[in-house]
Amino acid sequence: MTLSSTDAAQAPPLKPPVIRLQGVQKSFALPSGEVFDAVRALTLDIPEGEIFGLIGKSGAGKSTLLRLINLLERPDAGQVLVGGRDLTTLSRRELRDTRQNLGMIFQQFNLLQNASVFDNVAFPLKIHGRHSRAEIDARVRECLALVGLSEKIDTYPAQLSGGQKQRVAIARALAPRPQVLLCDEPTSALDSETTRSLLETLRDINAKIGVTIVIVTHELSVVEVLCRRVAILEKGQLIEQFAVDEAPQAERLTALGREIDALVRRRERDAREAANTPLSAAAAPRGLAHA
Ligand SMILES: Nc1ncnc2c1ncn2[C@@H]1O[C@H](COP(=O)(O)OP(=O)(O)OP(=O)(O)O)[C@@H](O)[C@H]1O
Ligand SMILES: [Mg+2]
Repeated sequence: MTLSSTDAAQAPPLKPPVIRLQGVQKSFALPSGEVFDAVRALTLDIPEGEIFGLIGKSGAGKSTLLRLINLLERPDAGQVLVGGRDLTTLSRRELRDTRQNLGMIFQQFNLLQNASVFDNVAFPLKIHGRHSRAEIDARVRECLALVGLSEKIDTYPAQLSGGQKQRVAIARALAPRPQVLLCDEPTSALDSETTRSLLETLRDINAKIGVTIVIVTHELSVVEVLCRRVAILEKGQLIEQFAVDEAPQAERLTALGREIDALVRRRERDAREAANTPLSAAAAPRGLAHA
C-alpha cells in the first residue's frame, strides 16, 4: 500500500516492513446468525522502528486488527507477515516462538496480582524456559530500568499506581526483546498527566531500543504526543493514513485526519513558542505562515 505522496524515485530506500498485512479479513458470527465483518480486506505495511497509531471510533475494528497482528485472532482470509514470515502458516509451536517477537500491552494492564514486579516481568522468560536465572535477573533489571521502575522490583501490583502498573506491563512485554510492541488503548485507564508521562516513556523506549510500536487509541491526544504515522480505521477498513509531519492540511481526506493535523500544527507552534524562535523558512511551504 502506498503510504505517502512522496515521489518514490527520490525517496531514500525504505526498510522492509516489519509487519505486512495483505488482504486480511475477519468476520464474527453474531448470535442472530448474521455475519459481521470486523476487518475487511485490509492491507497495511508498518516499517521497522515506527511509532504507528491506529485510530478510529468505538467498534471500528482497532482491537481486532491489533489482535490479527499476533494472531490472537486468526484471519478468515489474507496473510499476516511479521519479519517476512506468514504467521498463518506456522505450527502452534512456531507461532508460540514467533509471539516472543510481538509484545503486547492492554488498557487494564493484565498483571499477575499475586506475583511480585520481578516475577511479573520474568514471567514470559520463565515460561519460555530458555534462559538461565542470571539471564532472567539481568533482563528483568534492564527492562525495569527502561520504564523507570527499578526501585519497585520487590513490590506487588496492588502497591502500585495505574501508571506504574502499566510500566510493569511494558517491562514484561519487552522482556523477550520483541521487535514489535502492540499497545491496545494503553492509557485509557490513566489520568491525563500519567498518560503524558507514559507516552513519553514509550517514545524514549522506541528511541533507545528501536522497538516498533503499534498503538491503538481513540484519543487524538495520544496520536498528537506519540505517533509518527497514523492510520484511520472506519468500519473495518483503512480510510486514510499518513506521516503526521508529512503532507499539508489541505490534503487530509477525513475529518479525523484534519483534526490530527490541527493538533500536530498546534504542538509544533507550542514548541516554537516555548523555544521562543521565529517561524523558520522551511516550515512556510506547509501553510503555517498563513495559519
Ligand atoms: N468475538 C467477537 N464476536 C462478535 N463480534 C465481535 C467480536 N470481537 C469484536 N466484535 C465486533 O467487531 C467490531 C469491532 O470490534 P473491535 O473490538 O475491534 O473495535 P474497536 O475499534 O477496538 O472498538 P473500541 O474502541 O470500543 O475498543 C465491533 O462491532 C465488535 O462488536
Ligand atoms: Mg478496542
